[in-house]
Amino acid sequence: MVDLDGIDDLDVHWSTSEEMTEVKDGTVQSVITSPPYWDLKDYGHEDQIGTADKSYEHYHDRMETVWSQCYDVLRDDGTMWVVVDTVMERGNLQLLPYHIAERAEDVGFVLQDMVTWYKPTAIAGMTDRNVVNKKEYVIYLSKSKDHKFRDKEGQNGLEDPAVAEGHRLGNLWRHPVKRGTVGQNVLHKAPYPTSLINRIVEVSTEPGDTVLDPFFGSGTTAVSALELDRRCIGYELNEEFREVISERLASLQQCSLTEF
Ligand SMILES: C[S@@+](CC[C@H](N)C(=O)[O-])C[C@H]1O[C@@H](n2cnc3c(N)ncnc32)[C@H](O)[C@@H]1O
Repeated sequence: MVDLDGIDDLDVHWSTSEEMTEVKDGTVQSVITSPPYWDLKDYGHEDQIGTADKSYEHYHDRMETVWSQCYDVLRDDGTMWVVVDTVMERGNLQLLPYHIAERAEDVGFVLQDMVTWYKPTAIAGMTDRNVVNKKEYVIYLSKSKDHKFRDKEGQNGLEDPAVAEGHRLGNLWRHPVKRGTVGQNVLHKAPYPTSLINRIVEVSTEPGDTVLDPFFGSGTTAVSALELDRRCIGYELNEEFREVISERLASLQQCSLTEF
């Protein structure tokens, strides 16, 4: 276990990301997150976005407040990456990633791409669809048209379709998912894989830059950011995640030769 308050390069705020007053405007290089979905999973806090919202529109109104806060704290050349999928809602496919992208554009973001995260290990039964859902989207947005993007030539295995013609990074990314819980915590059954977040951290920031996750959960963004020598700020309503985050960072510290 590590004491989260004692890690210099990490600030976790146990409050809503609808008000990020602790973060100075123009200081964050990259926002990387996976948001709560509307009407899907209860994370156990009465103010959480998603289950506490009356309507789909109300959900997006609250999310738009978060996107607007993210916009303000980003540097002018910063980017935002939102990992999210379409979802079956009472028998209809809800185009959640597209609606999030539209609301983010409304606060000023420029939509750069909808990357497809291909999950080769996803199996039937994980979702209630007619065909097996093997993907999620990564909404890639920037604060301005002149944003930082560091193409990491040759960072992927040859079997990875992310490496397009001429070895530039493509927009189909292959990252297998593991089912199961994080540590002993049953609240987060499916955090996004660190390989996916490492890739985003590497293309969107440099060592020493600050990464922000407004929906911190079990802290996967921090695991990647700290491992890659970036600073990390997180907002999470549910303080029960403190223990699982601390467990994850402790194992990272054990694997690392240097202290963070
Ligand atoms: C999909 S999960 C994030 C998972 C995370 N990427 C991980 O690695 O575990 C969404 C998180 O958003 C949190 N959340 C919901 N509403 C929030 C709000 N208004 N402010 C901050 N966190 C919130 C939930 O408690 C939940 O942990």
